[in-house]
Amino acid sequence: MYQKEGRQSLPILKRWMTLTATQLAQYDREGFLVLKDFAPVASCDALRTRAEELVHDFEPNDIVSIFSTREQNRRSDDYFLNSGDKIRFFFEEDAFHPDGTLKQSKEQSINKIGHALHDLDPVFNEFSRRPAVAELVAGLGMKRPLLLQGMYIFKQPRIGGEVTCHQDSTFLYTEPQTIAGLWFALEDSTIENGCLWALPAGHRSGLKSRWLRSETGGMKFNVFDPTPWPEETLVPLEVSKGSLIILNGQLPHKSLANRSSKSRHAYTLHVISADCQYPEANWLQRSPSLPLRGFK
Ligand code: FE2
Repeated sequence: MYQKEGRQSLPILKRWMTLTATQLAQYDREGFLVLKDFAPVASCDALRTRAEELVHDFEPNDIVSIFSTREQNRRSDDYFLNSGDKIRFFFEEDAFHPDGTLKQSKEQSINKIGHALHDLDPVFNEFSRRPAVAELVAGLGMKRPLLLQGMYIFKQPRIGGEVTCHQDSTFLYTEPQTIAGLWFALEDSTIENGCLWALPAGHRSGLKSRWLRSETGGMKFNVFDPTPWPEETLVPLEVSKGSLIILNGQLPHKSLANRSSKSRHAYTLHVISADCQYPEANWLQRSPSLPLRGFK
């Protein structure tokens, strides 16, 4: 099991040179940017091993929170809503028999771990705060960055759930909207195993909705624009292990269900600027004992 003493440091990420003007222009124009081979394979494997250890030590007991971004299925339960400053485990929707028992091992049933991995786990903390990551975010023009959300996504073989088309700013809203999502591929990500699909330049069309805490408890959507996404224009972002995809918070994206025999592990880190306002109505909140931190 994981031992703090004697732990090997993660391999050093490539020092990502300052993003080129061409790359920045592409990110601005398209709303996303793919950086191949950003993280060494050994770093990807170290994160995968650590996630395995966390799942091994996780006792499901009666904690069963099914994660889905389908509005009608989203279980706005306390386990999810209070996970912004914790390490919690969420199951794939298709992980259960009708009687509520798991169809397969817990290791093959977890959809994701969230949402403060980057602050609470030493391995994810070290990876997330590497100078190469900090330099990259600075290169995007983000002033006074804060690491808001760290999440490990499994996209399990055969039962990996679909994530419907959405904008991350719907769930992690700031004023002004500054959020950037860093999506690290810890395995090859292909159409077959449920890669990301993105709508090029879709971030320019504005935010369609916000998911926020309602006055009466629970969560609600405020819809600004009910028109459907032009999903036929989404493009697959097939990337190799170690690649980094940077996503503008307003970029529409999705991933299809994984019906293949291969998993599609990814680690995501969402960063905001301390100069923006972070609403109390957002689902993800921190207790005063664990305030948001930057890269230091
Ligand atoms: Fe997303």
